Amino acid sequence: MADINADAAASVVVRFRLANGTTVEASGACGASVMETAISGSVPGILAECGGALSCATCHVYVDEEWLDRFGPMDPFEDEMLEGTASPRQRGSRLSCQIRLSPELSGIVLTIPPTQY
Ligand code: FES
Repeated sequence: MADINADAAASVVVRFRLANGTTVEASGACGASVMETAISGSVPGILAECGGALSCATCHVYVDEEWLDRFGPMDPFEDEMLEGTASPRQRGSRLSCQIRLSPELSGIVLTIPPTQY
């Protein structure tokens, strides 16, 4: 019998490239957000002042080009919020509280912007 909770319990590795050039890894459960994974993994540079309520834009990340096609269309409100980030918006810009981990994202590489203020 298949374990219906298997996906939810699976751990997804996220690789964060920091402003100093080093890369750190953090793991989160499927369904958790990238922001939650960063905070629980003590990854520096993700502030997430609103706690994931989509109202602060201090969880901004740049998704590496090769991963962009794994996502569906962005929510219009996230798209609007990305116009107010402290670091310039780029093609791979996302708010990490809006990216939910799934097995397809295991190993995803993200760059943390130089500043969130
Ligand atoms: S944590 Fe505030 S918008 Fe993502």
